Amino acid sequence: MRLIIATKNKNKVKEIRQILKGLNLRIVSLYDLDRKFRIVENGRTFKDNAVKKALVVSKVYKNDLVMGEDSGLVVECLGGEPGVYSKRYAGRNANDYKNNLKVLKKLEGLSKNKRRAYFFCFLALSLGGKIEEIFEGRMDGLIHCEICGDNGFGYDPIFYLPSYKKTVAQLHLSLKNRISHRSKAFRKLKKFLEQKCLEKCEGFRER
Ligand code: IMP
Repeated sequence: MRLIIATKNKNKVKEIRQILKGLNLRIVSLYDLDRKFRIVENGRTFKDNAVKKALVVSKVYKNDLVMGEDSGLVVECLGGEPGVYSKRYAGRNANDYKNNLKVLKKLEGLSKNKRRAYFFCFLALSLGGKIEEIFEGRMDGLIHCEICGDNGFGYDPIFYLPSYKKTVAQLHLSLKNRISHRSKAFRKLKKFLEQKCLEKCEGFRER
């Protein structure tokens, strides 16, 4: 059976494949299946977007498990920004670098205790056009005062982890994948699939 990850973000897919290693499912992404498949992300919350991604894809690929994932950065002193706008925070021509600069600029001069932030990941698992289960994960840290490190993607170069004295972009991917918001959510999913859902999927297929 296949598990379709409803994203075309190759960095996310790379992380997800590593986290789900060992699961008896063939993992494919929208990037592998149909690069033109478009999902409009217009939800007000990570949950809205994750559910939408899962359902839109699951209604087309009815015999596959589908995972909708939405994640982003939440900065406390910015009232939760960039939040669901994480990918396009710097506007129409946003990229990771411009997004990072925008956050750094908004926090310029602020002391450590005002720089608290977290990454959040929301997952929605669906089958046959219906949501089966939802999972979430969070990683807390601080917004650094400059861009540091080359690994990872998105806001990793400005997301500082005091316990490692490094930004996430200075960590090896295998370490990021042990502690990240996404790995926490996906490990819950993995456990769920191992314990319950595979049986259910077999049942579904026989119907
Ligand atoms: P989307 O879920 O593809 O809409 O976009 C999520 C956006 O949040 C990404 O483009 C990144 O900017 C940011 N983001 C999500 N997860 C991470 C992460 O693990 N590291 C850094 N940035 C992330």
